[in-house]
Amino acid sequence: MTNQKVLQVEKLPDGSIRRSICERPLSPLQDGFVRVRVAYSALNFKDALAATGNPGVAKHLPLVPGIDAVGEIVEGESRFSTGQSVMVAHPDFGTAVDGGFARFVDVPDTWLYQVPEGLSNLDAVTLGTAGFTAAQCVEGLVKAGISPDSGDIVVTGATGGVGIFAVMYLKQLGFSVVASTGKLIREAELKRLGAARVVHRDEIIDESTRPLLTAKWGGAVDTVGGKTLSSIIRSTKPHCVVTACGLVGGHELNLTVYPFILRGVSLIGIDSALVSAADRTALWNKMSKEWRLGDVESLANVIEIEGLENAIETILQGQVFGRYVIKLS
Ligand SMILES: NC(=O)c1ccc[n+]([C@@H]2O[C@H](COP(=O)([O-])OP(=O)(O)OC[C@H]3O[C@@H](n4cnc5c(N)ncnc54)[C@H](OP(=O)(O)O)[C@@H]3O)[C@@H](O)[C@H]2O)c1
Repeated sequence: MTNQKVLQVEKLPDGSIRRSICERPLSPLQDGFVRVRVAYSALNFKDALAATGNPGVAKHLPLVPGIDAVGEIVEGESRFSTGQSVMVAHPDFGTAVDGGFARFVDVPDTWLYQVPEGLSNLDAVTLGTAGFTAAQCVEGLVKAGISPDSGDIVVTGATGGVGIFAVMYLKQLGFSVVASTGKLIREAELKRLGAARVVHRDEIIDESTRPLLTAKWGGAVDTVGGKTLSSIIRSTKPHCVVTACGLVGGHELNLTVYPFILRGVSLIGIDSALVSAADRTALWNKMSKEWRLGDVESLANVIEIEGLENAIETILQGQVFGRYVIKLS
């Protein structure tokens, strides 16, 4: 039996949470599982929460976080061939069972998806859950009838993983994007990636209790929640659409029904985990072909597993730009 290096989160007898890089034995592969040698994982906000032992994300401890993993099959019966590039996606991966911050992961074959042709392993993991969620949000707007003629689309948390890809997808589809960020220092980069305008996140928030605000958004991709989402919904133009996927700014949502019944605003909830295999494959194929982004790898800040501690702190402080990618093999 050999060992492998992992990032592990555990609860100590005094109730405190410890995370550490440690060596764990690689057990023999169980029946019904496939072993994947992980080439890369990526760090999402959800992984950073899991790394703190947040019980809403880390369903049991000890846990190896990491909801994204891309690599190759090395052992076990699979519908994919040995050596083929695959990605892992399942709601339990990195939350209820050990995830991708490890050199090897053992998962059921049904959790595996082919890395679509046209994407390298590094492209696929850099996009990962963040890129997939951004694509879901943008597809949600488009399917609901929002077009470039609808007006400006605001993207909140624009320098984060989901936000940055939402800016890029929207720009590619011809939308005028307003990027909302706490890091105006990143204005030039956000404009290079597709934002027509960059505003400070405080400008988006209206603390009043007015049920309706001046209507200015043709649509929104909101990763922040809380007062930000409430302000956006109250500022959305008649019959336009808001997609909500995140809660970095809070999970509450104080609103009246007026934006919905007087302006016909629609709110679409986005969940990237509970997606059918067919829908997941179809969207990844779109992301690799007609929606293919040109500049994905440049957003990857590639680190070793030892760099995770700093990266987790950076994400928790809201200071990330783009994506941390962890090189494991
Ligand atoms: N529903 C789903 O399936 C799904 C999937 C993926 C992610 N998510 C959620 O989407 C959110 C973003 O995920 P991510 O992986 O993109 O996170 P991330 O890479 O950590 O980016 C989050 C960004 O939000 C902004 N931010 C941070 N703290 C904030 C605060 N207190 N108030 C307002 N803005 C703040 C920052 O951007 P700026 O400085 O540019 O404002 C930060 O870069 C998270 O809540 C995550 O859980 C949900």
